[in-house]
Amino acid sequence: MEKREMMYEGKAKKVYETDDKDYVVIYYKDSATAFNGEKKGEIEDKGVLNNNITSALFEMLETKGIKTHFVKRLSEREQLCRKVEIVPVEVIVRNVAAGSMAKRLGLSEGYELKTTVFEICYKNDNLGDPLINDTHAVAIGLTTFEELNKIYDTAKKVNDILKEFFLELGIKLIDFKLEFGRFNGDIILADEISPDTCRFWDANTNEKLDKDRFRRDLGNVKEAYVEILNRINRK
Ligand code: C5P
Repeated sequence: MEKREMMYEGKAKKVYETDDKDYVVIYYKDSATAFNGEKKGEIEDKGVLNNNITSALFEMLETKGIKTHFVKRLSEREQLCRKVEIVPVEVIVRNVAAGSMAKRLGLSEGYELKTTVFEICYKNDNLGDPLINDTHAVAIGLTTFEELNKIYDTAKKVNDILKEFFLELGIKLIDFKLEFGRFNGDIILADEISPDTCRFWDANTNEKLDKDRFRRDLGNVKEAYVEILNRINRK
């Protein structure tokens, strides 16, 4: 398959058309942003690391019956993926309170939630991806209740699989963000799963091994991403 025109450039990735209308090439960049684009920077080799991490995780999820947009890793920074229409809703799954939820509800980071929390946000940069509920999402035409049911069902399965997978690597999956796409009348998992989109804490030390190292200027950002990839590869 041949790479053609760039269709879209996001904060962390570029998407290219291919000579087959059903497939795209996704290129992972080193740029990092936080706080809705207010903080900008580069993390050396992040594109290579996140491409590897996402490819390994999507392949693993496919073996467990989760349908995803991922077809194959093409190169250090590129993946071949099915072309989907992204549902403009970000799904956040939380096992432990951290980040925006800890702040919003006055909880200390690390508070063990008594049940898994599912949040949705309207994917809209101008509005800063506001937190919404299911009725907002349907009322403003972002999705349907039927799609949302499938999305939550898959998000729960993905959480169960990832929690167990990472715990075996000595990593606690605190929270993460998923995106979904419409493909041939179905809803499939899209975007990425990486230290940019998850909070990973070392199970023994609670050391942060994710993008919070960049957001909060904790140092050793690249090293944290390398550590996640190394543990996945050791499996
Ligand atoms: O910032 P907040 O606590 O709401 O983030 C929850 C989780 O979702 C974190 O793992 C974060 O990395 C991820 N997230 C994301 N993209 C966003 C918002 C949150 O990947 N736009």
